[in-house]
Amino acid sequence: MTIKKISTTPYQGQNPGTSGLRKKVKVFQQKNYLENFVQSIFNSLDNYQGQTLVVGGDGRYGNIPATQTILKMAAANGFGRVIVGCNALLSTPAASCIIRKYSAFGGIVLSASHNPGGPDEDFGIKYNISNGGPAPEKYTDAMYEQSKSITEYKILQGDDIALDRVAELALGDMKISILDPVVDYAELMAEIFDFDAIKTLFKSGFTMKFDAMHAITGPYAKNIIEDVLGAPAGTVLNEKPLEDFGKGHPDPNLTYAKELVECLFGKNAPDFGAASDGDGDRNMILGNNFFVTPSDSLAVLTANAECVPAYKNGLSGVARSMPTSCAVDNVAKELGINCFETPTGWKFFGNLMDAHKVTLCGEESFGTGSNHVREKDGLWAVLFWLNILAAKKQSVEQIVTEHWAKYGRNIYSRHDYEAVDKAKAEQLVENLRNGFEALKGATFNGMKVAFADDFSYTDSVDGSVSTKQGVRIVFEDGSRIVFRLSGTGTEGATLRIYLERFEPDIKKQREDAQISLADLITIADDIAGVRKFTGRDAPTVIT
Ligand code: G1P
Ligand code: ZN
Repeated sequence: MTIKKISTTPYQGQNPGTSGLRKKVKVFQQKNYLENFVQSIFNSLDNYQGQTLVVGGDGRYGNIPATQTILKMAAANGFGRVIVGCNALLSTPAASCIIRKYSAFGGIVLSASHNPGGPDEDFGIKYNISNGGPAPEKYTDAMYEQSKSITEYKILQGDDIALDRVAELALGDMKISILDPVVDYAELMAEIFDFDAIKTLFKSGFTMKFDAMHAITGPYAKNIIEDVLGAPAGTVLNEKPLEDFGKGHPDPNLTYAKELVECLFGKNAPDFGAASDGDGDRNMILGNNFFVTPSDSLAVLTANAECVPAYKNGLSGVARSMPTSCAVDNVAKELGINCFETPTGWKFFGNLMDAHKVTLCGEESFGTGSNHVREKDGLWAVLFWLNILAAKKQSVEQIVTEHWAKYGRNIYSRHDYEAVDKAKAEQLVENLRNGFEALKGATFNGMKVAFADDFSYTDSVDGSVSTKQGVRIVFEDGSRIVFRLSGTGTEGATLRIYLERFEPDIKKQREDAQISLADLITIADDIAGVRKFTGRDAPTVIT
Protein backbone atom coordinates (compact mmCIF):
# COMPACT_ATOMS: atom_id res chain seq x y z
CA MET A 1 0.00 0.00 0.00
CA THR A 2 1.30 3.43 -0.80
CA ILE A 3 1.64 6.37 1.48
CA LYS A 4 0.56 9.56 -0.22
CA LYS A 5 1.84 12.96 0.76
CA ILE A 6 -0.83 15.49 -0.01
CA SER A 7 -0.09 19.20 -0.26
CA THR A 8 -2.26 21.40 1.82
CA THR A 9 -2.49 24.95 3.03
CA PRO A 10 -3.27 25.81 6.64
CA TYR A 11 -6.63 27.26 7.48
CA GLN A 12 -7.12 25.92 10.96
CA GLY A 13 -6.90 29.35 12.46
CA GLN A 14 -7.83 28.28 15.97
CA ASN A 15 -6.26 26.86 19.07
CA PRO A 16 -8.20 23.70 19.94
CA GLY A 17 -7.76 24.24 23.68
CA THR A 18 -8.15 21.35 26.09
CA SER A 19 -11.73 20.58 25.12
CA GLY A 20 -10.68 20.05 21.50
CA LEU A 21 -11.71 21.56 18.20
CA ARG A 22 -15.50 21.97 17.95
CA LYS A 23 -17.01 23.33 14.75
CA LYS A 24 -20.03 22.95 12.54
CA VAL A 25 -19.99 19.79 10.40
CA LYS A 26 -19.86 22.01 7.32
CA VAL A 27 -16.55 23.47 8.52
CA PHE A 28 -15.10 20.00 9.02
CA GLN A 29 -16.29 19.04 5.53
CA GLN A 30 -14.01 21.60 3.89
CA LYS A 31 -11.29 19.97 1.86
CA ASN A 32 -8.38 18.82 4.05
CA TYR A 33 -9.79 20.47 7.18
CA LEU A 34 -9.90 17.31 9.31
CA GLU A 35 -6.70 15.97 7.72
CA ASN A 36 -4.86 19.21 8.52
CA PHE A 37 -5.83 18.99 12.13
CA VAL A 38 -5.00 15.29 12.50
CA GLN A 39 -1.60 15.80 10.86
CA SER A 40 -1.03 18.80 13.14
CA ILE A 41 -1.69 16.59 16.15
CA PHE A 42 0.81 13.99 14.90
CA ASN A 43 3.39 16.65 13.98
CA SER A 44 3.21 18.05 17.49
CA LEU A 45 4.01 14.68 19.11
CA ASP A 46 7.36 12.93 19.52
CA ASN A 47 8.31 9.27 19.52
CA TYR A 48 4.96 7.74 18.69
CA GLN A 49 6.33 5.48 15.94
CA GLY A 50 5.30 1.90 16.62
CA GLN A 51 3.06 2.98 19.51
CA THR A 52 -0.67 2.50 20.10
CA LEU A 53 -3.35 5.09 19.39
CA VAL A 54 -6.97 4.76 20.61
CA VAL A 55 -9.71 6.13 18.34
CA GLY A 56 -13.46 6.40 18.80
CA GLY A 57 -16.31 8.83 19.07
CA ASP A 58 -19.84 9.49 20.26
CA GLY A 59 -21.52 8.30 17.06
CA ARG A 60 -22.56 11.71 15.79
CA TYR A 61 -22.78 12.56 12.09
CA GLY A 62 -19.30 12.32 10.55
CA ASN A 63 -17.92 9.90 13.15
CA ILE A 64 -17.30 6.94 10.84
CA PRO A 65 -15.76 8.76 7.83
CA ALA A 66 -13.51 10.76 10.17
CA THR A 67 -12.40 7.52 11.84
CA GLN A 68 -11.55 5.98 8.45
CA THR A 69 -9.41 9.00 7.63
CA ILE A 70 -7.65 8.90 11.00
CA LEU A 71 -6.89 5.16 10.62
CA LYS A 72 -5.25 5.74 7.23
CA MET A 73 -3.32 8.73 8.50
CA ALA A 74 -2.17 6.90 11.65
CA ALA A 75 -0.86 4.08 9.44
CA ALA A 76 0.91 6.52 7.12
CA ASN A 77 2.48 8.33 10.05
CA GLY A 78 3.93 5.19 11.62
CA PHE A 79 1.70 4.23 14.54
CA GLY A 80 2.14 0.54 15.36
CA ARG A 81 -1.43 -0.17 16.35
CA VAL A 82 -4.79 1.54 16.54
CA ILE A 83 -7.43 0.37 18.98
CA VAL A 84 -10.83 1.45 17.74
CA GLY A 85 -14.34 0.85 19.05
CA CYS A 86 -16.67 -1.23 16.91
CA ASN A 87 -18.61 1.09 14.56
CA ALA A 88 -16.11 3.78 15.63
CA LEU A 89 -17.94 4.17 18.96
CA LEU A 90 -16.29 4.98 22.29
CA SER A 91 -17.65 7.13 25.07
CA THR A 92 -15.19 9.72 26.37
CA PRO A 93 -14.69 7.91 29.72
CA ALA A 94 -14.35 4.54 27.91
CA ALA A 95 -11.66 6.04 25.63
CA SER A 96 -9.85 7.23 28.75
CA CYS A 97 -10.19 3.76 30.32
CA ILE A 98 -8.85 2.03 27.20
CA ILE A 99 -5.88 4.40 26.80
CA ARG A 100 -4.87 3.61 30.38
CA LYS A 101 -5.58 -0.11 30.29
CA TYR A 102 -3.61 -0.80 27.09
CA SER A 103 -0.83 1.71 27.89
CA ALA A 104 -1.56 3.57 24.68
CA PHE A 105 0.49 6.56 23.58
CA GLY A 106 -2.69 8.63 23.33
CA GLY A 107 -6.13 8.76 21.83
CA ILE A 108 -8.35 10.71 19.50
CA VAL A 109 -11.94 11.23 20.62
CA LEU A 110 -14.46 12.40 18.05
CA SER A 111 -17.14 14.34 19.84
CA ALA A 112 -18.64 17.77 20.40
CA SER A 113 -19.82 16.61 23.84
CA HIS A 114 -23.35 17.82 24.61
CA ASN A 115 -23.73 19.92 21.44
CA PRO A 116 -26.37 18.73 18.94
CA GLY A 117 -25.27 16.50 16.03
CA GLY A 118 -26.29 16.07 12.38
CA PRO A 119 -25.25 17.52 9.02
CA ASP A 120 -26.09 21.07 10.13
CA GLU A 121 -24.86 20.74 13.68
CA ASP A 122 -21.54 20.23 15.45
CA PHE A 123 -18.56 17.91 15.17
CA GLY A 124 -15.43 17.82 17.26
CA ILE A 125 -12.04 16.22 17.69
CA LYS A 126 -9.90 16.04 20.81
CA TYR A 127 -6.55 14.51 21.63
CA ASN A 128 -5.94 12.70 24.94
CA ILE A 129 -2.51 11.88 26.33
CA SER A 130 -1.21 8.65 27.83
CA ASN A 131 -2.72 9.23 31.28
CA GLY A 132 -6.10 9.08 29.53
CA GLY A 133 -6.88 12.76 30.10
CA PRO A 134 -7.34 15.69 27.71
CA ALA A 135 -4.09 17.07 26.28
CA PRO A 136 -2.92 19.96 28.46
CA GLU A 137 -2.32 23.42 27.01
CA LYS A 138 1.34 22.91 26.10
CA TYR A 139 0.19 20.13 23.75
CA THR A 140 -2.76 22.00 22.29
CA ASP A 141 -0.59 25.10 21.79
CA ALA A 142 1.92 22.97 19.87
CA MET A 143 -0.86 21.50 17.69
CA TYR A 144 -2.08 24.99 16.95
CA GLU A 145 1.42 26.11 15.96
CA GLN A 146 1.68 23.11 13.62
CA SER A 147 -1.71 23.84 12.09
CA LYS A 148 -0.55 27.34 11.13
CA SER A 149 2.41 26.17 9.10
CA ILE A 150 1.35 22.77 7.77
CA THR A 151 2.15 22.13 4.10
CA GLU A 152 1.31 18.45 3.65
CA TYR A 153 -0.29 15.48 5.30
CA LYS A 154 0.36 11.77 4.98
CA ILE A 155 -2.34 9.21 4.27
CA LEU A 156 -2.34 5.58 3.23
CA GLN A 157 -4.16 4.87 -0.02
CA GLY A 158 -6.56 2.00 0.44
CA ASP A 159 -10.07 0.80 1.05
CA ASP A 160 -12.06 1.66 4.11
CA ILE A 161 -11.83 -0.77 7.01
CA ALA A 162 -14.92 -2.78 8.02
CA LEU A 163 -15.55 -1.41 11.48
CA ASP A 164 -18.83 -3.19 12.14
CA ARG A 165 -17.40 -6.21 13.97
CA VAL A 166 -14.78 -7.09 16.54
CA ALA A 167 -11.60 -8.07 14.67
CA GLU A 168 -7.81 -7.93 14.48
CA LEU A 169 -6.78 -6.48 11.13
CA ALA A 170 -3.84 -4.79 9.48
CA LEU A 171 -3.56 -1.61 7.48
CA GLY A 172 -0.16 -1.44 5.83
CA ASP A 173 2.30 -2.13 8.64
CA MET A 174 -0.14 -1.00 11.32
CA LYS A 175 -2.33 -3.37 13.35
CA ILE A 176 -5.95 -2.48 13.95
CA SER A 177 -7.79 -3.94 16.93
CA ILE A 178 -11.52 -3.40 16.70
CA LEU A 179 -12.92 -3.83 20.21
CA ASP A 180 -16.40 -4.03 21.63
CA PRO A 181 -16.64 -0.44 22.96
CA VAL A 182 -18.37 -1.55 26.16
CA VAL A 183 -16.36 -4.54 27.47
CA ASP A 184 -13.30 -2.89 29.03
CA TYR A 185 -15.34 -0.10 30.55
CA ALA A 186 -17.91 -2.54 31.97
CA GLU A 187 -15.09 -4.60 33.51
CA LEU A 188 -13.69 -1.51 35.20
CA MET A 189 -17.11 -0.63 36.63
CA ALA A 190 -17.47 -4.19 37.98
CA GLU A 191 -14.11 -3.77 39.76
CA ILE A 192 -15.17 -0.49 41.37
CA PHE A 193 -18.75 -1.11 42.49
CA ASP A 194 -20.63 -3.74 44.47
CA PHE A 195 -22.54 -5.24 41.55
CA ASP A 196 -24.08 -7.96 43.74
CA ALA A 197 -25.68 -5.38 46.01
CA ILE A 198 -27.06 -3.49 43.00
CA LYS A 199 -28.42 -6.74 41.51
CA THR A 200 -30.21 -7.42 44.81
CA LEU A 201 -31.62 -3.88 44.73
CA PHE A 202 -33.15 -4.43 41.28
CA LYS A 203 -34.45 -7.86 42.34
CA SER A 204 -36.27 -6.20 45.22
CA GLY A 205 -38.39 -4.24 42.75
CA PHE A 206 -36.43 -0.96 42.75
CA THR A 207 -37.30 1.01 39.61
CA MET A 208 -35.15 3.25 37.47
CA LYS A 209 -35.10 5.09 34.15
CA PHE A 210 -31.85 6.00 32.43
CA ASP A 211 -32.11 8.38 29.48
CA ALA A 212 -29.28 7.82 27.01
CA MET A 213 -30.70 10.64 24.85
CA HIS A 214 -29.86 8.66 21.66
CA ALA A 215 -26.21 9.26 22.41
CA ILE A 216 -23.20 7.12 23.24
CA THR A 217 -24.19 5.81 26.69
CA GLY A 218 -27.08 3.75 25.24
CA PRO A 219 -25.04 0.58 24.60
CA TYR A 220 -23.08 1.02 27.84
CA ALA A 221 -26.17 1.51 30.00
CA LYS A 222 -28.09 -1.29 28.28
CA ASN A 223 -25.26 -3.73 28.88
CA ILE A 224 -24.36 -2.74 32.44
CA ILE A 225 -27.73 -1.71 33.92
CA GLU A 226 -30.05 -4.14 32.15
CA ASP A 227 -27.96 -7.15 31.05
CA VAL A 228 -25.45 -7.32 33.90
CA LEU A 229 -27.26 -5.73 36.85
CA GLY A 230 -30.64 -7.16 35.94
CA ALA A 231 -32.80 -4.04 35.66
CA PRO A 232 -35.90 -4.83 33.60
CA ALA A 233 -35.85 -4.21 29.84
CA GLY A 234 -37.05 -0.69 29.16
CA THR A 235 -35.08 0.79 32.05
CA VAL A 236 -32.79 2.45 29.49
CA LEU A 237 -34.63 4.97 27.32
CA ASN A 238 -33.50 6.24 23.90
CA GLU A 239 -30.74 3.65 23.91
CA LYS A 240 -29.84 3.66 20.23
CA PRO A 241 -27.06 6.10 19.36
CA LEU A 242 -28.23 8.20 16.40
CA GLU A 243 -26.15 10.48 14.18
CA ASP A 244 -28.37 13.43 15.08
CA PHE A 245 -29.27 12.24 18.61
CA GLY A 246 -32.87 12.01 17.40
CA LYS A 247 -32.69 15.77 16.77
CA GLY A 248 -32.36 16.28 20.52
CA HIS A 249 -29.86 18.28 22.48
CA PRO A 250 -27.89 15.61 24.34
CA ASP A 251 -27.25 17.59 27.50
CA PRO A 252 -28.51 16.03 30.74
CA ASN A 253 -30.19 18.90 32.55
CA LEU A 254 -33.71 19.84 33.57
CA THR A 255 -34.31 21.63 30.27
CA TYR A 256 -33.01 19.15 27.71
CA ALA A 257 -33.68 15.79 29.38
CA LYS A 258 -37.36 16.64 29.30
CA GLU A 259 -38.77 13.13 28.81
CA LEU A 260 -36.88 11.84 31.84
CA VAL A 261 -37.77 14.84 34.00
CA GLU A 262 -41.49 14.46 33.17
CA CYS A 263 -41.29 10.79 34.08
CA LEU A 264 -39.52 11.36 37.41
CA PHE A 265 -41.81 14.24 38.38
CA GLY A 266 -44.96 12.52 37.13
CA LYS A 267 -47.41 10.06 38.63
CA ASN A 268 -46.01 6.60 39.40
CA ALA A 269 -42.50 7.95 39.06
CA PRO A 270 -39.70 5.41 39.39
CA ASP A 271 -37.34 5.43 42.39
CA PHE A 272 -34.38 6.75 40.47
CA GLY A 273 -33.64 8.59 37.22
CA ALA A 274 -30.43 9.52 35.45
CA ALA A 275 -29.17 10.80 32.12
CA SER A 276 -25.87 11.32 30.37
CA ASP A 277 -24.69 13.57 27.53
CA GLY A 278 -23.56 13.12 23.92
CA ASP A 279 -20.16 11.60 24.71
CA GLY A 280 -21.05 10.11 28.10
CA ASP A 281 -19.05 12.25 30.50
CA ARG A 282 -21.84 14.29 32.13
CA ASN A 283 -24.60 13.04 34.42
CA MET A 284 -27.86 14.18 35.95
CA ILE A 285 -29.30 12.46 39.03
CA LEU A 286 -32.99 12.47 39.94
CA GLY A 287 -35.06 10.77 42.62
CA ASN A 288 -38.81 10.26 42.67
CA ASN A 289 -39.98 13.90 42.39
CA PHE A 290 -36.54 15.09 43.40
CA PHE A 291 -33.60 16.79 41.63
CA VAL A 292 -30.08 16.41 43.01
CA THR A 293 -27.85 19.35 42.10
CA PRO A 294 -24.43 18.26 40.78
CA SER A 295 -22.78 20.08 43.70
CA ASP A 296 -24.88 18.15 46.21
CA SER A 297 -24.28 14.94 44.30
CA LEU A 298 -20.50 15.31 44.70
CA ALA A 299 -20.96 15.93 48.43
CA VAL A 300 -23.25 12.90 48.86
CA LEU A 301 -20.88 10.62 46.92
CA THR A 302 -17.99 11.80 49.09
CA ALA A 303 -19.92 11.32 52.33
CA ASN A 304 -20.99 7.80 51.34
CA ALA A 305 -17.88 6.63 49.53
CA GLU A 306 -17.33 3.85 52.06
CA CYS A 307 -20.35 2.03 50.54
CA VAL A 308 -18.30 1.46 47.38
CA PRO A 309 -15.66 -1.31 47.43
CA ALA A 310 -13.07 0.72 45.47
CA TYR A 311 -13.31 3.67 47.88
CA LYS A 312 -14.01 1.90 51.16
CA ASN A 313 -10.49 2.44 52.46
CA GLY A 314 -10.92 6.19 52.26
CA LEU A 315 -10.36 9.00 49.80
CA SER A 316 -7.01 10.70 49.37
CA GLY A 317 -8.77 14.03 48.85
CA VAL A 318 -11.50 15.69 46.82
CA ALA A 319 -11.62 18.61 44.40
CA ARG A 320 -14.27 20.89 43.00
CA SER A 321 -14.20 23.78 40.58
CA MET A 322 -14.42 27.20 42.24
CA PRO A 323 -18.01 28.00 41.18
CA THR A 324 -19.24 24.57 42.38
CA SER A 325 -20.99 24.90 45.74
CA CYS A 326 -19.00 24.36 48.94
CA ALA A 327 -21.18 21.39 49.98
CA VAL A 328 -18.32 18.93 49.45
CA ASP A 329 -15.97 21.10 51.55
CA ASN A 330 -18.13 20.44 54.62
CA VAL A 331 -17.88 16.69 54.07
CA ALA A 332 -14.12 16.79 53.43
CA LYS A 333 -13.68 18.71 56.67
CA GLU A 334 -15.47 16.06 58.63
CA LEU A 335 -13.57 13.26 56.91
CA GLY A 336 -10.30 15.09 57.59
CA ILE A 337 -9.24 15.08 53.93
CA ASN A 338 -8.10 17.88 51.64
CA CYS A 339 -10.57 19.68 49.42
CA PHE A 340 -8.99 21.46 46.45
CA GLU A 341 -10.66 24.40 44.75
CA THR A 342 -9.68 24.61 41.07
CA PRO A 343 -10.66 26.82 38.15
CA THR A 344 -13.53 25.70 35.90
CA GLY A 345 -12.61 22.91 33.47
CA TRP A 346 -11.62 19.30 33.91
CA LYS A 347 -7.90 19.67 33.12
CA PHE A 348 -7.01 20.90 36.62
CA PHE A 349 -8.23 17.68 38.24
CA GLY A 350 -5.91 15.46 36.18
CA ASN A 351 -2.72 16.75 37.79
CA LEU A 352 -4.15 16.28 41.28
CA MET A 353 -5.16 12.72 40.45
CA ASP A 354 -1.85 11.80 38.84
CA ALA A 355 -0.18 13.07 42.04
CA HIS A 356 -2.60 10.93 44.15
CA LYS A 357 -3.91 14.02 45.89
CA VAL A 358 -7.57 13.48 45.08
CA THR A 359 -9.84 10.50 44.50
CA LEU A 360 -13.15 12.22 43.67
CA CYS A 361 -13.87 15.49 41.90
CA GLY A 362 -16.69 17.37 40.27
CA GLU A 363 -18.15 20.49 38.79
CA GLU A 364 -21.53 22.16 39.11
CA SER A 365 -22.03 21.67 35.36
CA PHE A 366 -23.08 18.00 35.72
CA GLY A 367 -19.55 16.57 35.67
CA THR A 368 -18.38 14.11 38.33
CA GLY A 369 -15.45 11.72 38.32
CA SER A 370 -12.75 9.81 40.12
CA ASN A 371 -9.21 8.62 39.57
CA HIS A 372 -10.42 5.45 37.76
CA VAL A 373 -10.04 7.42 34.50
CA ARG A 374 -8.92 10.96 33.64
CA GLU A 375 -12.21 12.27 32.27
CA LYS A 376 -15.49 12.97 33.99
CA ASP A 377 -17.71 9.91 33.80
CA GLY A 378 -21.50 9.97 33.55
CA LEU A 379 -22.36 6.30 33.94
CA TRP A 380 -19.83 5.86 36.74
CA ALA A 381 -21.69 8.56 38.73
CA VAL A 382 -24.99 6.76 38.11
CA LEU A 383 -23.53 3.44 39.29
CA PHE A 384 -22.07 5.18 42.35
CA TRP A 385 -25.58 6.38 43.23
CA LEU A 386 -27.02 2.90 42.64
CA ASN A 387 -24.35 1.44 44.91
CA ILE A 388 -25.24 3.93 47.67
CA LEU A 389 -28.98 3.35 47.23
CA ALA A 390 -28.38 -0.41 47.47
CA ALA A 391 -26.25 -0.06 50.60
CA LYS A 392 -28.40 2.47 52.45
CA LYS A 393 -31.81 1.16 51.40
CA GLN A 394 -33.20 4.68 51.44
CA SER A 395 -34.72 6.88 48.75
CA VAL A 396 -32.72 9.54 46.91
CA GLU A 397 -34.73 12.21 48.70
CA GLN A 398 -34.08 10.67 52.13
CA ILE A 399 -30.36 10.41 51.46
CA VAL A 400 -30.08 14.04 50.33
CA THR A 401 -32.30 15.56 53.03
CA GLU A 402 -30.50 13.60 55.75
CA HIS A 403 -27.25 14.84 54.24
CA TRP A 404 -28.52 18.44 54.52
CA ALA A 405 -29.67 17.85 58.08
CA LYS A 406 -26.19 16.68 59.02
CA TYR A 407 -23.99 19.09 57.05
CA GLY A 408 -26.34 21.99 56.32
CA ARG A 409 -27.57 22.78 52.83
CA ASN A 410 -25.59 24.91 50.39
CA ILE A 411 -28.52 26.36 48.51
CA TYR A 412 -27.28 26.94 45.01
CA SER A 413 -28.24 28.11 41.55
CA ARG A 414 -26.58 29.14 38.30
CA HIS A 415 -28.06 31.84 36.08
CA ASP A 416 -26.85 31.94 32.48
CA TYR A 417 -27.28 34.89 30.14
CA GLU A 418 -26.55 33.40 26.75
CA ALA A 419 -25.58 35.12 23.50
CA VAL A 420 -25.22 38.56 25.04
CA ASP A 421 -23.12 41.35 23.55
CA LYS A 422 -19.50 40.33 24.07
CA ALA A 423 -18.06 43.81 24.64
CA LYS A 424 -20.75 44.62 27.19
CA ALA A 425 -20.29 41.34 29.05
CA GLU A 426 -16.55 41.96 29.20
CA GLN A 427 -17.19 45.47 30.46
CA LEU A 428 -19.42 44.12 33.24
CA VAL A 429 -16.63 41.83 34.45
CA GLU A 430 -13.99 44.54 34.08
CA ASN A 431 -16.07 46.97 36.15
CA LEU A 432 -16.35 44.37 38.89
CA ARG A 433 -12.59 43.88 38.86
CA ASN A 434 -12.06 47.60 39.25
CA GLY A 435 -14.45 47.76 42.19
CA PHE A 436 -13.02 45.18 44.61
CA GLU A 437 -11.65 47.75 47.06
CA ALA A 438 -14.92 49.68 47.20
CA LEU A 439 -16.88 46.48 47.86
CA LYS A 440 -14.82 45.43 50.85
CA GLY A 441 -16.86 45.85 54.03
CA ALA A 442 -19.86 47.22 52.08
CA THR A 443 -23.28 46.04 53.20
CA PHE A 444 -26.14 44.95 50.94
CA ASN A 445 -29.54 44.03 52.37
CA GLY A 446 -27.85 43.59 55.72
CA MET A 447 -25.17 41.29 54.27
CA LYS A 448 -21.59 42.46 54.72
CA VAL A 449 -18.99 41.71 52.04
CA ALA A 450 -16.03 39.82 53.52
CA PHE A 451 -13.91 40.00 50.36
CA ALA A 452 -14.11 40.32 46.61
CA ASP A 453 -11.46 39.10 44.17
CA ASP A 454 -10.72 37.48 40.85
CA PHE A 455 -9.99 33.81 41.48
CA SER A 456 -6.47 32.75 40.74
CA TYR A 457 -5.07 29.23 41.12
CA THR A 458 -1.60 27.88 41.62
CA ASP A 459 -1.37 24.24 40.64
CA SER A 460 0.19 22.49 43.64
CA VAL A 461 1.68 19.84 41.36
CA ASP A 462 3.32 21.72 38.49
CA GLY A 463 3.34 25.23 39.96
CA SER A 464 1.51 26.77 37.00
CA VAL A 465 -0.63 29.81 37.78
CA SER A 466 -4.05 30.51 36.23
CA THR A 467 -5.41 33.99 36.76
CA LYS A 468 -8.74 35.72 36.08
CA GLN A 469 -10.79 32.59 36.68
CA GLY A 470 -13.94 34.27 37.94
CA VAL A 471 -14.97 37.20 40.10
CA ARG A 472 -16.04 36.19 43.60
CA ILE A 473 -17.98 38.30 46.05
CA VAL A 474 -18.00 36.51 49.37
CA PHE A 475 -20.13 37.69 52.30
CA GLU A 476 -19.39 37.30 55.99
CA ASP A 477 -21.94 34.50 56.40
CA GLY A 478 -20.19 32.53 53.63
CA SER A 479 -22.76 33.36 50.92
CA ARG A 480 -21.18 33.89 47.51
CA ILE A 481 -21.87 35.42 44.15
CA VAL A 482 -19.51 34.39 41.36
CA PHE A 483 -19.41 35.97 37.91
CA ARG A 484 -17.59 34.48 34.96
CA LEU A 485 -17.77 34.39 31.19
CA SER A 486 -18.15 31.00 29.57
CA GLY A 487 -15.18 29.63 27.67
CA THR A 488 -17.30 27.23 25.60
CA GLY A 489 -20.19 29.38 24.33
CA THR A 490 -20.26 29.84 20.57
CA GLU A 491 -22.42 32.94 20.08
CA GLY A 492 -21.51 36.34 21.56
CA ALA A 493 -20.74 35.89 25.24
CA THR A 494 -22.39 33.79 27.93
CA LEU A 495 -22.39 35.37 31.37
CA ARG A 496 -22.69 32.84 34.20
CA ILE A 497 -23.72 33.98 37.66
CA TYR A 498 -23.36 31.41 40.43
CA LEU A 499 -25.30 32.03 43.65
CA GLU A 500 -24.83 30.22 46.92
CA ARG A 501 -26.13 30.54 50.47
CA PHE A 502 -25.59 28.22 53.43
CA GLU A 503 -28.72 27.12 55.30
CA PRO A 504 -28.10 25.21 58.53
CA ASP A 505 -31.75 25.38 59.68
CA ILE A 506 -33.41 22.11 58.77
CA LYS A 507 -36.84 23.77 58.70
CA LYS A 508 -35.77 26.13 55.93
CA GLN A 509 -33.76 23.69 53.84
CA ARG A 510 -36.69 22.58 51.68
CA GLU A 511 -37.40 26.07 50.42
CA ASP A 512 -37.23 26.61 46.66
CA ALA A 513 -33.71 27.69 45.70
CA GLN A 514 -34.81 30.73 43.66
CA ILE A 515 -36.86 32.04 46.60
CA SER A 516 -34.15 31.29 49.07
CA LEU A 517 -31.57 33.07 46.91
CA ALA A 518 -33.78 36.06 46.02
CA ASP A 519 -31.74 38.53 48.09
CA LEU A 520 -28.49 37.42 46.48
CA ILE A 521 -30.03 37.65 43.01
CA THR A 522 -31.00 41.27 43.69
CA ILE A 523 -27.58 42.05 45.13
CA ALA A 524 -25.87 40.57 42.06
CA ASP A 525 -27.83 42.93 39.85
CA ASP A 526 -27.14 45.90 42.15
CA ILE A 527 -23.40 45.27 42.18
CA ALA A 528 -22.84 44.28 38.56
CA GLY A 529 -25.67 45.96 36.66
CA VAL A 530 -26.63 42.64 35.10
CA ARG A 531 -29.84 43.90 33.53
CA LYS A 532 -28.20 47.04 32.22
CA PHE A 533 -25.23 45.30 30.61
CA THR A 534 -27.05 42.27 29.24
CA GLY A 535 -30.18 44.15 28.20
CA ARG A 536 -32.16 41.23 29.65
CA ASP A 537 -34.74 41.06 32.41
CA ALA A 538 -34.10 37.44 33.21
CA PRO A 539 -31.51 34.71 32.62
CA THR A 540 -31.76 32.47 29.56
CA VAL A 541 -31.23 29.31 31.62
CA ILE A 542 -31.58 28.77 35.35
CA THR A 543 -30.08 25.62 36.81
C1 G1P B 1 -18.63 24.59 30.74
C2 G1P B 1 -18.82 24.25 32.20
C3 G1P B 1 -17.53 23.68 32.76
C4 G1P B 1 -17.10 22.46 31.94
C5 G1P B 1 -17.01 22.85 30.47
C6 G1P B 1 -16.69 21.64 29.58
O1 G1P B 1 -17.62 25.56 30.59
O2 G1P B 1 -19.22 25.39 32.94
O3 G1P B 1 -17.74 23.33 34.11
O4 G1P B 1 -15.87 21.97 32.38
O5 G1P B 1 -18.25 23.42 30.04
O6 G1P B 1 -17.67 20.65 29.69
P1 G1P B 1 -17.91 27.15 30.44
O7 G1P B 1 -18.85 27.31 29.28
O8 G1P B 1 -18.57 27.58 31.71
O9 G1P B 1 -16.58 27.78 30.24
ZN1 ZN C 1 -19.53 15.64 27.34
